[in-house]
Amino acid sequence: MRVYLETFGCQMNELDSELVRGQLGSLGYQFVERDDEAQVLLYNTCSVRELAEQKALSRVGIVGVRKREGERLILGILGCMAERDGLDMLRRHPQVDILCGPAELDKLPQLIDNVRRAQDAERGELARERGVALAGNRSRRTATLSAAEDGLESLDLSRAFDADAREQPWSAYVRITRGCNKFCTYCVVPYTRGAEVHRPPDHIVEECRRLVDAGAIEITLLGQTVNHYRYTHGTAVTVGGREAPQVGPGLRAFRDDSAPIARTTTFADLLRRIHDEVPGLQRLRFVTSYPRDFGPDVLAAMRDAPRICRYLHAPAQSGSDAVLARMNRGYTVAEYEEFVARTFEALPDATLAGDIIVGFPGETDEDFERTCSLVRRLPFKNNFIFKYSPRPGTTAIDRYPDDIPDEVKRWRNNTLLAIQSETSARVHAQWVGKRVPVLFDSVRARAAASRPASGTVALRVGGEPVDAPSVAGWQAIGRTAGDLIVAVPVASEEAGRAMCGSIREVALESAQALLLTGKNVQ
Ligand code: 5AD
Ligand code: SF4
Repeated sequence: MRVYLETFGCQMNELDSELVRGQLGSLGYQFVERDDEAQVLLYNTCSVRELAEQKALSRVGIVGVRKREGERLILGILGCMAERDGLDMLRRHPQVDILCGPAELDKLPQLIDNVRRAQDAERGELARERGVALAGNRSRRTATLSAAEDGLESLDLSRAFDADAREQPWSAYVRITRGCNKFCTYCVVPYTRGAEVHRPPDHIVEECRRLVDAGAIEITLLGQTVNHYRYTHGTAVTVGGREAPQVGPGLRAFRDDSAPIARTTTFADLLRRIHDEVPGLQRLRFVTSYPRDFGPDVLAAMRDAPRICRYLHAPAQSGSDAVLARMNRGYTVAEYEEFVARTFEALPDATLAGDIIVGFPGETDEDFERTCSLVRRLPFKNNFIFKYSPRPGTTAIDRYPDDIPDEVKRWRNNTLLAIQSETSARVHAQWVGKRVPVLFDSVRARAAASRPASGTVALRVGGEPVDAPSVAGWQAIGRTAGDLIVAVPVASEEAGRAMCGSIREVALESAQALLLTGKNVQ
């Protein structure tokens, strides 16, 4: 059967889609590039903002028309939107055959199979089978259940390691925790992805090793609050003698130094283990960091281990204490700044990125000005800036009316983007004159004019097109260890392609707001 799979949203979803592709591929499903060639259409959805949901819904509408016109298709909604919308989605969109939440993806082959068999058997009759796998309340109840029964681990463990599984075979994601226990008031993730579950370190190290054996040179560890990773040995259920995933230890583990400590693998330990035990890995990165609980041990590991990238994506979300408190972020602006100061003291060549929400309920002009000031003060290389989007099921939607008009949100969004642009330009300018290793990943044509030539691959950073220098010919594009984007001129498209997947030394010569340019000196 031919399958079309489209992914919306975050890196966690990209990894989920890769795993789904591997799992269905190993069962003989064939993936196609175009939706009109497929018999099974899967949309791996995101619920973090309404816009992402609307995009997925428009696909659902189009498939509905095709089905009404008589095409025999299986339509599956995967991911956070399936989990959040649940059976309401089936009521409102009868063309949907499968709903599969992000914590249930291991069940997808069975769901497709059931629908397929029901369609075969019931052709022409009224009866209709739909496949539903949602975690529902269980997604949080897992906190008290044995996470060892978590079938999802088998999905991570059964991943296809061959380079064909990934668009950029040199780069791979590895999940270290699932779910989130933070309950920021605006966020659906704790409800859609469930409680925080930590994977056993041996599984993670082994996965990294196998990816590197299969050609990966860069691995990005994924977790909603990645630095909260902590695995306590000897207490978890073991399956067949192997350690199993474990629910999060609770925040006390990060605060109470006097508590008796069982043998644990902390996030810093995990970074060191991967670094030392997988020597072929050239870049080890991680996202997303929670700005609180970022201990000196992690900074020390980053300082000591040269192949750990000194890059932190640690969202501030707001520069106002009042807004941060209503968001339930659990830190103040001063604490965030203290964390940034500590980071740069330990790692002067680090880079910092983040996320910010504008127009959170009750955000005054003064609150917003404080956020602008934070973005001016701190060396953010980039910030993803979002307009607040009230999400059903979250605390904020019940507690705080969405009282900032959309045009104010839009104005704040644009104002902050302009400020971020100045900050980014400052951060980038500091790198001019240095030599840095760059991992190349794409090629693009440049017109002599400063506007991109038609057919140019649009490169987006923080939602904004990269402003480009006026260089004719071809450019190879890559990233520094600190995730700064670098362009170097190359003689031809082929020459640029040949560089993709390799790390080369670049002398940085000039900086724009979101891009560095330089010369390959190797
Ligand atoms: N509205 C706007 N932005 C949101 N984010 C999460 N939930 C919302 C929401 N309801 C943003 C946060 C988070 C990023 C992944 O998405 O900034 O860090
Ligand atoms: Fe959402 Fe907050 Fe968890 Fe991030 S830390 S996933 S914003 S609840």
